[in-house]
Amino acid sequence: MAEQMATAGVSGSIPGLTGSGKTQSERPGLSPQGDHSGGRRDFLKLVTGSFALVGAGAIAWPFINSMNPAADTLALSTTDVDLGPVAVGQAITVVWRGKPVFIRHRTPEEVKAAVDTPMSALKDPATDQSRTKPGKEPWLVVVGICTHLGCVPLGQKPTDERGAYGGWFCPCHGSVYDTAGRIRQGPAPANLVVPPYAFTNDTRIRIG
Ligand code: FES
Repeated sequence: MAEQMATAGVSGSIPGLTGSGKTQSERPGLSPQGDHSGGRRDFLKLVTGSFALVGAGAIAWPFINSMNPAADTLALSTTDVDLGPVAVGQAITVVWRGKPVFIRHRTPEEVKAAVDTPMSALKDPATDQSRTKPGKEPWLVVVGICTHLGCVPLGQKPTDERGAYGGWFCPCHGSVYDTAGRIRQGPAPANLVVPPYAFTNDTRIRIG
């Protein structure tokens, strides 16, 4: 675009440089000096204008371009996950907007432990139902970032330590989360965050 602007600004009407084939001094009524200086002045104006256009184009393009979300940004704003391969008791970690998201297919015992926990036992009270989708209670989806200082807790692998409540354990300062991702022990002030998500069919979710 910038090159097109530059070409349009310079071509076509620079006095004395195009057209008749006559030199400036052959044109009637114009002194060679006056014609030369005027033509040069006009040329400089045009060239300056051209550079102004080029400059404006060069500045405007990144600015305009920056207003359009990049394709990769759009692609990363949502994350689709096929839950079909995740068996009961298994967990997977996916990435959504650059963050780890823990998805756990909870066992009936894990769901029961979360549902039966009294609110009085919780530092950041929240029911299990408020952290899952109706009819999809076995599935827990939480951002895998400790609410203390941002470490990624352990508990996704079968061999990981999960803490006394069977959820996740953050080893940096010992925060312990339960099977609903709620903080139960340690310095973390809040539950693991449940990201916005929805089931798009029986076995797929879209996060974001
Ligand atoms: S970041 Fe998790 S306990 Fe410190």
